[in-house]
Amino acid sequence: MEYYSPEVLISEEQIATRIKELGEQITRDFPNQEVVLLCVLKGAYVFCADLMRKINLPVRLEFVSCSSYADSMQSSGKVKIDMDATGPIENQNVIIVEDIVDSGLTIKTLIEVLKIKKPKLIKLASLLHKPSRTKHENKIDYLAFEIDDKFVVGYGLDYAGRYRELPYIGFLNAGH
Ligand code: IMP
Ligand code: MG
Repeated sequence: MEYYSPEVLISEEQIATRIKELGEQITRDFPNQEVVLLCVLKGAYVFCADLMRKINLPVRLEFVSCSSYADSMQSSGKVKIDMDATGPIENQNVIIVEDIVDSGLTIKTLIEVLKIKKPKLIKLASLLHKPSRTKHENKIDYLAFEIDDKFVVGYGLDYAGRYRELPYIGFLNAGH
């Protein structure tokens, strides 16, 4: 297999520091309460795994899987829920955990669908946000990093299924 290593945009250390802060913030925001982390597969699973271990509260973990992209980098403009949460959502403090909010369509759609299950509240945690790409406004309650309009990979994020295993967030140069 050819060697590849995308350039570092956000280091492993920077990610760890920021996630610790977010975990502390969530812990403060829900005193003596349980939270349900709704992890958006596959991209957010690395972020979610680290974040949940920095939350000092009873946590339940649920997964959803959405697909929104027709090809690897272009949005199809449609979002499909491929796999839904299986545990109780009604009357729960639900924190959606997403890898990146790009156009905002995935999250907007997910929130609409989630509301049908009548959670007590819905908050949004995202590792990354590209504000310059926003087409659908969403309030991100817990955001780790804002980034420029670059296609990024690593720490769970992929390009055509690859690079998820990188411990840092990087970007691809031409030729990769
Ligand atoms: P949105 O619906 O346009 O907000 O797209 C969000 C989804 O697109 C994310 O959950 C990612 O799966 C994917 N995505 C958007 N930008 C990137 C990127 O730079 N790298 C990897 N995946 C991305
Ligand atoms: Mg995603």
